[in-house]
Amino acid sequence: MAEKKILIVDADVASRNFIARNLLDQKYEVIQAGSGREGLICAWRDRPDLAIIDPSIADLKGEEIAAKLKQDPRTANMPLIALSSDSSVVHIKSCLDAGFSEYITKSGQAVQILNETIARFFGIAAVSEKKGGLLMVFLSAKGGTGTSSMCANIAQNISQNQPEARVAVADLVLPIGSIAPIVGYEGPKNIVTITDMPPGETNPKFFRSELPDMNIWGFNLLAGSPDPESSNHLKVGRIWDIVLALKESYDYVLIDIGRSLSKITLPLIQQADLIALIISTDISTVSLTKTLWKYLKNKGVGAASVYTVLNRAVGLEGLSKADAEKILEIPIMATMPYLSSNFAFANSHHQPFTLKFPKDTASFVFLEVAKDMAAQARKQRAA
Ligand SMILES: Nc1ncnc2c1ncn2[C@@H]1O[C@H](COP(=O)(O)OP(=O)(O)O)[C@@H](O)[C@H]1O
Ligand SMILES: [Mg+2]
Repeated sequence: MAEKKILIVDADVASRNFIARNLLDQKYEVIQAGSGREGLICAWRDRPDLAIIDPSIADLKGEEIAAKLKQDPRTANMPLIALSSDSSVVHIKSCLDAGFSEYITKSGQAVQILNETIARFFGIAAVSEKKGGLLMVFLSAKGGTGTSSMCANIAQNISQNQPEARVAVADLVLPIGSIAPIVGYEGPKNIVTITDMPPGETNPKFFRSELPDMNIWGFNLLAGSPDPESSNHLKVGRIWDIVLALKESYDYVLIDIGRSLSKITLPLIQQADLIALIISTDISTVSLTKTLWKYLKNKGVGAASVYTVLNRAVGLEGLSKADAEKILEIPIMATMPYLSSNFAFANSHHQPFTLKFPKDTASFVFLEVAKDMAAQARKQRAA
């Protein structure tokens, strides 16, 4: 779907501007109306995807506005959110009875509640219903920890373990993606060009048949932004729909987020069936990971959906698993050995590690970790 359009109906200009700015920051398109009548006209003419209405507006009663919008086929299915300074139970009830889906009281937390409510209406709800393929995100607190190499190689191993499964990898690392160089993809399709396509065209069928096939890697790739300039043009508002469409078309959707934690990626992390947290063995990465994990916990991420991988990307030195666990206060699920130059070699030849060095012990680790991650994701989905 295109960028979502939201109508704000509120007589108070300051309040309206405040909400509008918050929505514009999230890349929504915003229409404003200063009266109930103007709101109705805008709703029927501009066909917004959602309306936020102050039901205490002077010229029409909120209940009347809701009733009119619900009776008209053009706006009957548009979600209506009441945003009001009136917190009386009677008023809340009469608004909900008249057709508002939600009633939010203007308070210090209103914006946060409003944002969560809007996100829910716009498809995050669909994901939280946990439909479609399993979503696994790859995340780290610092660059150079091996997140992209892990994401690509785990995807390849999942596909090797389950040849019948359809696997997709999406690279959302900004401003430059790095999966394409690892697997050797140089084609024109990437997250920037695909979010630029007309919304109706980027449906599940498109992702099923048009996403480039990485052959020996066993997955299809939605490549990342090729350069910082392109990433400035990325239509971030479309990422949700694209992830939903990917989940509809693939059994496994692995997303490289790297350390690009943002408003765009946080909901993906929150809704993922499994969060692969890649940690290298140096003290600064482990401490930063602790901060990241605390933050995620505060955002409602449960320990059961986190899969910690201690990756010896920086060499033989560094913290032991026990050291890292003591600092992090969560168990390490898997440890990836130092692969010396072999890993860089496989990467620079665009080859999966397990296929290039099948006898290396690390190849067995990859296969086991991939199996374990898939099982853990399935378990979390069922929970
Ligand atoms: N276990 C490992 N052993 C040896 N080298 C590794 C290991 N993991 C990653 N590397 C190397 O570390 C570098 C950074 O990896 P990359 O996957 O790009 O990290 P990130 O995506 O976290 O920035 C790459 O050159 C990669 O080949
Ligand atoms: Mg990376």
